Amino acid sequence: MEPIIELRGVRKSFGAEEVLRSLDLSISKDAVSVIIGRSGSGKSVLIKHIIGLIRPDQGQVLIEGQDIARLDERSMASIRRKFGMLFQGSALFDSMTVEDNVAFPLHEHTRKPRREIRDIVSAKLAAVGLKDMEHKMPAELSGGMRKRVGLARALALDPKIVLFDEPTSGLDPIMAATINELIVRTQAEFGATCVVISHDILAAMSTGHRLFMLYEGRIIAEGTPEEIQEWDDPVVQQFIHGRTQGPISIA
Ligand SMILES: Nc1ncnc2c1ncn2[C@@H]1O[C@H](COP(=O)(O)OP(=O)(O)O)[C@@H](O)[C@H]1O
Ligand SMILES: [Mg+2]
Repeated sequence: MEPIIELRGVRKSFGAEEVLRSLDLSISKDAVSVIIGRSGSGKSVLIKHIIGLIRPDQGQVLIEGQDIARLDERSMASIRRKFGMLFQGSALFDSMTVEDNVAFPLHEHTRKPRREIRDIVSAKLAAVGLKDMEHKMPAELSGGMRKRVGLARALALDPKIVLFDEPTSGLDPIMAATINELIVRTQAEFGATCVVISHDILAAMSTGHRLFMLYEGRIIAEGTPEEIQEWDDPVVQQFIHGRTQGPISIA
């Protein structure tokens, strides 16, 4: 099957630091793909390449077969409409109500009338379990609720691809499980391709159809949760079992 997202030979450095070192990655449609790796390994940098917020120094970033690596901003804007993204830390506008946060991409990218936007917002809020929360301010919400508002906003334009950067970090285990269930439902009910970045190996195992491990700038393992569990590489084994002893240096 044709991948919906494909990275080929992507290199990215910041100053002297090589973050991505000729990275290849192929993500198939209509599934939940989870990219795991240590903090600081370049997961956020990788996901920002997929949505065109960071451009590679070298290599290709193909979205539905179109290379966006060197696309001008104008064409990039139309590519970005294929995406919804839940940022690490939710990235809500604190001075806006929940309703205005979720409505924001609809006002930015469509000419839909206010009334229709209001209906879409309340449907998306209901879908993430936040019915009738329109008039709350972000500061009044718990971390898990903020994530869900972020997810409702990411889904506002019915994107083909939804990206999640550390969706459960900082949440208690029950709220984390709720968010993980929402990710699985987002894929199943909206038919979106979901790409999740996580350092939480248990969450990755329970939500991902396919797992990818990022290490030293490359994808070093790829497979189903069962395949990753059995992966014959001491780096992968150390990471998934959270061992302090092994080839990964604890800096
Ligand atoms: N815009 C940037 N400018 C300079 N360095 C960056 C930038 N973004 C990320 N980095 C560096 O790239 C490395 C990987 O960061 P990141 O992708 O955020 O890691 P992760 O998400 O896996 O924790 C880090 O060393 C970070 O400091
Ligand atoms: Mg990150």
